[in-house]
Amino acid sequence: MTEFMDAGFGRSPETLIDDVPVRGTLPDWLEGSLLRNGPGTFQVGGHRYRHWFDGLAMLHRFSIAGGRVSYANRFLETKAWSAARDEGRIAYPEFATDPCRSLFARAMAVFDPQVTDSAKVNIARVAEHFLALAETPIQVEFDPQTLATVGVTGWDTSTFGRMTTVHPHLDAEREEAINLVTRYGAASQYAFRRVDTSTTDLAATTLATRRVRQPSYIHSFGMSERHLVLVEFPLVVNPLDLLLWRKPYIENFRWRPERGTRFHVFDRATGAHVRTVRGPTFFAFHHVNAFDHLTPDGRVDEVVVDLVAYDDAAVIEAFYLHRLEEPDSRIPPGTLRRYRVSLAGPARDAEGEELCGTGIELPSLDYARMNTSPEHRYVYGVGLSGERGFYDELVKIDIAARSAATWSEEGCYPGEGVFAGRPGRTAEDDGVVLSVVLDAPRGTSFLLVLDAATFTELARAELPHPVLFGYHGQFYDDVAGPGGAAAR
Ligand code: CO
Repeated sequence: MTEFMDAGFGRSPETLIDDVPVRGTLPDWLEGSLLRNGPGTFQVGGHRYRHWFDGLAMLHRFSIAGGRVSYANRFLETKAWSAARDEGRIAYPEFATDPCRSLFARAMAVFDPQVTDSAKVNIARVAEHFLALAETPIQVEFDPQTLATVGVTGWDTSTFGRMTTVHPHLDAEREEAINLVTRYGAASQYAFRRVDTSTTDLAATTLATRRVRQPSYIHSFGMSERHLVLVEFPLVVNPLDLLLWRKPYIENFRWRPERGTRFHVFDRATGAHVRTVRGPTFFAFHHVNAFDHLTPDGRVDEVVVDLVAYDDAAVIEAFYLHRLEEPDSRIPPGTLRRYRVSLAGPARDAEGEELCGTGIELPSLDYARMNTSPEHRYVYGVGLSGERGFYDELVKIDIAARSAATWSEEGCYPGEGVFAGRPGRTAEDDGVVLSVVLDAPRGTSFLLVLDAATFTELARAELPHPVLFGYHGQFYDDVAGPGGAAAR
C-alpha cells in the first residue's frame, strides 16, 4: 500500500492537545474553532470498510486564540461505534459497506431495518444545537467544546426508508434551516423540510414535496433568495431494491444517462413547484451557490446554479478503497459549472457552462455573506495535481477572472478548505482558508492556515498523528476551546 492509503485510511487515536506547536504566525484577529467531521477508523476488528464514505464518525476541534492552537478529537458515541468497540464488528449498514451478518440475519433485517447512526459527514449549528450530520436522517447532537455526544435528533422522525443531505441551507436572517429528505416506498417522494431556528426546538415541517418513481442519489441542493433547486441526476434507484437492502446502499443505484438531468425549481416562501426543466446528463455531489437573475421590474427570469459537475457518476466507484489502492487508479476531476434555469417564457432546457477548467471538489465559499449572492466570486476546494493518488492540492477559483490558484506540497494531501473571514472585511477573500493536511511520508497531519487572498501559507499547527481523509467541517468564530476566552 502506498503511504497515503496507510495514513489517510487507517485510524486516528483520540487525543487532547492543549498547545499544538505552531510554525509561522497566525493572524491576531483569528479566533474561534474549526470543527470537522469524518471517519476515525476504517478498520473494525478483523473487518475493513470498503469505501471512503464509510467508517466510524470522529469529530475534531482546532481552537485558535491569541496565536495559539489547541486540539481535541473524539469518536462520536453512537450505536455503530459501541458495537465496533464492544463486539469488534460492523453492525450497521454504511454508504457502501453492509454489516457482518449471516444470510438468515440478512433476510430478517428486512423486517427489522436498522440504519447507521454514525453521523460522520458534516457539522451544522441549527438553532444553537451543534449537529453531526449523516445522509441517514439520524443527526447526532454534540458539545462543541468537549466533543461529547449529547443525543440523537433528525430531519424526519421516521428513520427507515428515508435519506437526507448533509448540506442543509442555513439562513440566519430568515431564521430557518432547510434540508431535503428523500422518502423511498411505493410512493416515493422528495420533501424539503424546514426548521424554524428562532426557537430551540428542532422540529421540522414540510415545505415542499414532489412525487418520484425512481429517486436519484442527491448529496446537496441549491437555494437562492427566492427558490429551492433540486437537481435530479440520472443516478437512480428502484425503491423496492433499497427497501429489500440486498446490496449496500449506493450499489442499488443505476446510472441511466438517457434520462438526462432534471432541474426542479420550488418557491422558497410558499413551497409551490415553479418549473421543471431538463438539462444535459451529468452528476454532482456539491452545489456551490445559486442566485436569482432579476428583470428590471424585479421578477426572476432565471435561476443560476453553480455546482461541481462530472460527466457521469464514476467518481463514486473511484472512492472504493480497493480501487484507490490500484496502481492505475484515477479519481475523475469535477469542474465548476454554471447552469441557467429559465423561469420566464416557454420551458427550455437548462444550459451549462464550465466556469474554470481546474478540477475542484469539496467546494466552499464565504457562505454567511456570499450564499445566494450574484456577486459571489471565490470558491475554495481540493484538487488533483497528478494522474493518480488522492486530492493533493488546495484550489481557489476566481469566477470573475475564470482563473485558479493552487497550494501544494510534496507528499501532502489537504482536506476541505474552510474560509474564515477577517472581521470588518470588505473584500470577499480577506481572511484565511483552514485545511487539515495529511503529510503522508511522516504519517501525521497539520492544520494549514493560508491567506485567502494570496493563497500562500501563514502558519501551520502540527499534530503528532494522522487525521484520516475526512469530508466537511465549519469554522465558528464564537466557539472557544475549553478554558479559552470566548471570541466575540
Ligand atoms: Co458533501
